[in-house]
Amino acid sequence: MKLYTSFLCLVGFLAYQPRVSQGLGYRVPSQYQWPKPHNVVPLQAPHDTPEKWVRLHNLARSKVGVGPLKWNTTLANYAKNYSQQRSGDCELIHSQGPYGENIYWGQGEGVIDAAAAMKAWVDGEVVNYDYNSNSCEFGKQCGHYTQIVWKDTTQLGCGTAKCSDAENKVFITCNYYPPGNYIGERPY
Ligand SMILES: *[C@@H]1O[C@H](CO)[C@@H](O)[C@H](O)[C@H]1NC(C)=O
Ligand SMILES: *[C@@H]1O[C@H](CO)[C@@H](O)[C@H](O)[C@H]1NC(C)=O
Repeated sequence: MKLYTSFLCLVGFLAYQPRVSQGLGYRVPSQYQWPKPHNVVPLQAPHDTPEKWVRLHNLARSKVGVGPLKWNTTLANYAKNYSQQRSGDCELIHSQGPYGENIYWGQGEGVIDAAAAMKAWVDGEVVNYDYNSNSCEFGKQCGHYTQIVWKDTTQLGCGTAKCSDAENKVFITCNYYPPGNYIGERPY
């Protein structure tokens, strides 16, 4: 029987340029071994649309032979709502809803969009995931990545809000259904 219980957050921090920084968090089961934050190199990219979110997710999924996700407006509305709710502080606090959830914040040119969040979650973490042991490299994060390529997840929705605590800063959240990151199960 699957158990999907508690939610934890982790603050990642990036000092890429003086005025550019990021943080990220994902919800995981309570038994999860907490990895430490890691640095992420941001990527410049243009407009965030559902198609773009889906394409970036499905690109990562196709690389490991996992079927595509579909955009779900219920999840997207939930994510948008929560991002707006968090816009006052943009803290890496999870919504504690029924969905899988990757959260992120970025501040500065090039780290405030879907491409930057996906680069942090996928490119930044794929190298930390060891399939054989089904674990993250010691002291590293890979839980955002494993949610993104989780085979049983079929739908996603993401939302972005401008943070009011700083200039040029956003909070991004993606929700997934069915949720992934079950302890003892491989993503694919
Ligand atoms: C979208 O997701 C919600 C929540 O999981 C679900 O109830 C709904 O059926 C989904 N919509 C579609 C079109 O699959
Ligand atoms: C949106 O957020 C508010 C709190 O700000 C919450 O009460 C409401 O249930 C949320 N709506 C949805 C659809 O998630």
